[in-house]
Amino acid sequence: MSFLSSILDLFVSDRPAAGGNTTTAVLEHPEQHSQRQLHADAPPEPDGPDLTAVLQRIRGIREPLATDYQTNSSDLELLSKAETRLQEGAFDLPMLPSANLAVMDALANPNQEMAEIADLIEGNPVLTAEVLKTANSAFYSRGQEIADVRGAVTRIGFRQLRLLMLTLSARAVILQGKEILPLAQRLWEHSIACAVFCRHLAKLTGEDPEDMFTGGLLHDVGKIIVLNTIREVHKDMEEYVPPACVLGLLFDGHHQIIGADVVRNWSLPAKIADVAGHHHSPLGARHTQAAALATLANRMCRLQSPTDNPYTQETPEVLAASGLSEEARESIARSIPEILAEIAERLT
Ligand SMILES: [Fe+2]
Ligand SMILES: [Fe+2]
Repeated sequence: MSFLSSILDLFVSDRPAAGGNTTTAVLEHPEQHSQRQLHADAPPEPDGPDLTAVLQRIRGIREPLATDYQTNSSDLELLSKAETRLQEGAFDLPMLPSANLAVMDALANPNQEMAEIADLIEGNPVLTAEVLKTANSAFYSRGQEIADVRGAVTRIGFRQLRLLMLTLSARAVILQGKEILPLAQRLWEHSIACAVFCRHLAKLTGEDPEDMFTGGLLHDVGKIIVLNTIREVHKDMEEYVPPACVLGLLFDGHHQIIGADVVRNWSLPAKIADVAGHHHSPLGARHTQAAALATLANRMCRLQSPTDNPYTQETPEVLAASGLSEEARESIARSIPEILAEIAERLT
């Protein structure tokens, strides 16, 4: 089963978000116990993935970079040049791959014949392979193999096919460019993890799980433009890893605004653009609940331990904006080890 098929399986599967028979946790106010663990008697991880290692992997780009680094003149020169380009908008917004876009457009047309969509997919070998893999994945196949695209499209369904196209597109955009691949790979893994957390959170609120999966997938897409800009102003990027302080300044100043532009440019719903544009400042979003859920999901990707309280850094206003009841928050907190295990499975 392909990685993307696995991700799609995860999206459509309806596993309970709650941790089942794990010990009931009592959440305390963040200000009372800032870093307290939720489960003193948390279950061990027998034969499962090392969840702390999973957390290290999904934290995003900045973590592996040295923070005690002393900037030198070339760092400052790069910072200045990149900052100027980003402020002036001297960059290209990434395009959706044309074949994926054609399929997504066709799927958006309510009068589109299934056979025409299958023809579009068959015109692209990569899409054909991914659609067949997905249709024959464990979730869909139930033991019956399908070898033709029309049958695969019927089996998957239009809604999930659209999500597959979007996921393939996001991966292509985020992983573009060999020079930035090590950093981009970390961003991709963080994006998938955030999407999975978003989906679990949405299921406990009135938000649409598919929209929130997409929002999580694209929440940091603006960082790719920042990385591309750094690469352009520093041609030897392969030899040079920008220090965390330089990346941090450029990300903090630009990735949300540019990310929202990318999402709008792809004609995705305003809610997804709001998630990209406000996942660090959800109360300023028009779609406050979606942005607040993404804020929580993003934070869950950065826990030190799977049993840490995931809400310690959130304000009561953000927690309220998420629309998660106290019971739902406790349920998600108990489920984090389970969700991380699912993410680990998808990242293999
Ligand atoms: Fe971000
Ligand atoms: Fe993030």
